[in-house]
Amino acid sequence: MNASVKVNGDRLLGRLENFAGIGATPAGGVNRQALSPEDRLARAKLAQLAADRGFAVFQDSMANLFIRREGKSAGRPPFLIGSHLDSQPMGGRYDGALGTLSAFEVLESLDDADIQTPVALEVVAWTNEEGSRFSPGAMGSMAFANRAIPAEWHHARSPDGKLLQDELTATLIALPQAAMRPLGIPVSGYLELHIEQGPSLERENIPIGVVHGIQGTRWLEVVITGQTAHAGTTQLSFRRDPLVAATEAMQTLYGSIMPNDEQARLTIGRISVEPASINAIPGKVSFSVDLRHPNAPELARLEELVRTVCQEKASVLGCEATVRRTFDMPPAQFSPTLLAAVEHAVTRLGVSSKPMLSGAFHDALFLARVTEAAMIFVPCRDGLSHNEAEYVKPEHSVLGAQVLLESTLAALGMS
Ligand code: GLV
Ligand code: MN
Ligand code: MN
Repeated sequence: MNASVKVNGDRLLGRLENFAGIGATPAGGVNRQALSPEDRLARAKLAQLAADRGFAVFQDSMANLFIRREGKSAGRPPFLIGSHLDSQPMGGRYDGALGTLSAFEVLESLDDADIQTPVALEVVAWTNEEGSRFSPGAMGSMAFANRAIPAEWHHARSPDGKLLQDELTATLIALPQAAMRPLGIPVSGYLELHIEQGPSLERENIPIGVVHGIQGTRWLEVVITGQTAHAGTTQLSFRRDPLVAATEAMQTLYGSIMPNDEQARLTIGRISVEPASINAIPGKVSFSVDLRHPNAPELARLEELVRTVCQEKASVLGCEATVRRTFDMPPAQFSPTLLAAVEHAVTRLGVSSKPMLSGAFHDALFLARVTEAAMIFVPCRDGLSHNEAEYVKPEHSVLGAQVLLESTLAALGMS
């Protein structure tokens, strides 16, 4: 059944090019950060494409955007496919956009072929997957899964001083044609196509990854305080310099975490120094820590190590360190039923694939808490992502969309 439904590859590739123009950076990437004017433009464009096809558009209080094509049974929970439209500050054009636009392509292809699904099929673009403008990441899907927006998020501010709550309101108002719906409606499943963001598929020349799960992530904010003082007059024994403590802590962590465990990941992506004056010893240093590991107890141990090392290095220098956890995503396992649907699709298409674990976190991690969820990966050049040079071969984008289409039909019992 439905063996002949094919996605329209040219249409999908045209859309990817088109959306890459929203927030385009000179080096060919995108800067379309969550709830920014560029993100709003991308949402409006997708909503317009939906309206042109006669699909209904909804949003919820987290500004998650949904596009619905009705199925035979209007009363049963919809099946969701999608990803996100926001990007890193200097991000690539495929991270999130490929999954969202491919999901829309699936809806259009089914519509073109006049194929009715047993339940409604909805495309979703989750808000703020990246977590770089507002922390934490995957805010939209997390709130959806919890059916609530945590109170502390209302105080979250972007680096340019904007309140999350204000940016959410402005984003919702900018799309009045999208009807409001409650946060966290019941759904019958979720599939997400994404680029691998790592090198293994490309290296092994395998076009499809069947993603069984996602490693765990913890985000920490470390603040080390000392005493700001004169750069020229303060001799060594009088200095309480938090930057020295911070750099020593970083060296110890860099030297011990990843070199001793090839599964572990440690990234310090943001540092700020106050008062940031060339001739003043800093009084305060803050930095972020992104820790990842597929094993939950090991991830907890690494967090403890970061705490101990920062506190020890600070104390030796007469400084104080606090370590606050801002994000905790335990490792997730995806649904065997949906994975079987993806395997079925891959077999039907006769393409090679391999089971794999995701190194990046994704919205699917939170959906897996409330419904059957799974993911499909396609390779990206040199495994490079969160970089303007991120690139996916056109044939891999189109194949990924086709696998998404066939997996969705299989999950709905239609193939
Ligand atoms: C997602 O963007 C991640 O950092 O894994
Ligand atoms: Mn992504
Ligand atoms: Mn990303």
